[in-house]
Amino acid sequence: MKKNIAVIPGDGIGPEIVKEAVKVLKAIEKKYQHAFTYTEVCAGGCAIDKYGKSLPEESLQACLDSDSVLLGAVGGPKWDNVDPSIRPEKALLGIRKEMGLYANLRPAKIFPQLAAASPLRTDIVENGIDFMVVRELTGGVYFGEKKTYEVNGELYATDNMCYYEHEIKRIAHTAFQTARKRNHKVISVDKANVLDTSRLWRKVMHEVAKEYPDVELQDMLVDNTAMQIVKNPAQFDVIVTENMFGDILSDEASMITGSIGLIPSASLGESKRGMYEPIHGSAPDIAGQNIANPIGTILAAGMMLKYAFDMDEENAVIEKAVADVLSDGYRTGDIMEEGKTKLFCDEMGDKIVEYIEKA
Ligand code: NAD
Ligand code: IPM
Ligand code: MN
Repeated sequence: MKKNIAVIPGDGIGPEIVKEAVKVLKAIEKKYQHAFTYTEVCAGGCAIDKYGKSLPEESLQACLDSDSVLLGAVGGPKWDNVDPSIRPEKALLGIRKEMGLYANLRPAKIFPQLAAASPLRTDIVENGIDFMVVRELTGGVYFGEKKTYEVNGELYATDNMCYYEHEIKRIAHTAFQTARKRNHKVISVDKANVLDTSRLWRKVMHEVAKEYPDVELQDMLVDNTAMQIVKNPAQFDVIVTENMFGDILSDEASMITGSIGLIPSASLGESKRGMYEPIHGSAPDIAGQNIANPIGTILAAGMMLKYAFDMDEENAVIEKAVADVLSDGYRTGDIMEEGKTKLFCDEMGDKIVEYIEKA
């Protein structure tokens, strides 16, 4: 199958991890006689340096013209003080909005081989961690009006948190449909005891739930959810929540699986084309050292094959290669344990390719 993939390496560890994911995609291409073309796209801090803006029009157009987008990460301290309107992160938000990618799927699943890497007690991990965070991605406080101005001689800033009913409705459908393919349980997370947006969220969730009588719906307040994720993660199947709550809870969920470097994500809209990326950022503290964990990005490339190209088998081969590499004791620094073999970022990519080739 021929596919055109827009590849955005971005900043920090972005180029290092994306290189490994492309290596894996090339191994899949060869094994299954596909023909992928990789269009490198400049976005993020590196685009500010080169073009004075984080998302040049040609970059956005290349994403819109592609069959799917693979992204590493954007941002870093170098650009922390640029004008907010051109920040590296605006590139990411711009692509999500312009491509209509309102549903962000972030699986939190522990590899049993990595139980010791989880900061949770063994008796909690043993009950299993396997849930999907369905994060609303193009609404909420991220996209509401923002203002900083002077009031009575001091600065005052506002970020407007806002949701239309239709935005909540469509993500509710994504969550219920996701649950149908899993264990038929949705926990909708909000702050309905305080926020109007959450009260609307809860109302719409329950209306949509009527169309899915086979799926159980439970409401949970976000503060309690943050606590329950570490207390009893086995209770979760699908968590659906608004943009910012989903951002925060998915980082928390990732860590209980052992490392944020392990978790992929798919950002989806109405068309099959989407954007695929790890959930972590550009990790400036470890950039340029070839020690980042590329597994989240490699699994994101796998999600792209499955969701955008219907290549379920190819994705399964990637997932199995990752699991087998971990079973055979190979680790990057973030998940290293005594008695295991520590690999650099590129060595982990090579190892996963080796396992794909011999599968
Ligand atoms: P981060 O996710 O980049 O890093 C948090 C911690 O996790 C760091 O200690 C880092 O070393 C570690 N980590 C992250 N990915 C790792 C990997 N693959 N392997 C091993 N360790 C890994 O979060 P941050 O430090 O808060 O943000 C840094 C920059 O990234 C900021 O500019 C932020 O805006 C940006 N960011 C971008 C994205 C994205 O592009 N999707 C996501 C989150 C943050
Ligand atoms: C993520 C990131 C982004 C977000 C930032 C970089 C805009 O944290 O993808 O999780 O908050 O959505
Ligand atoms: Mn985040």
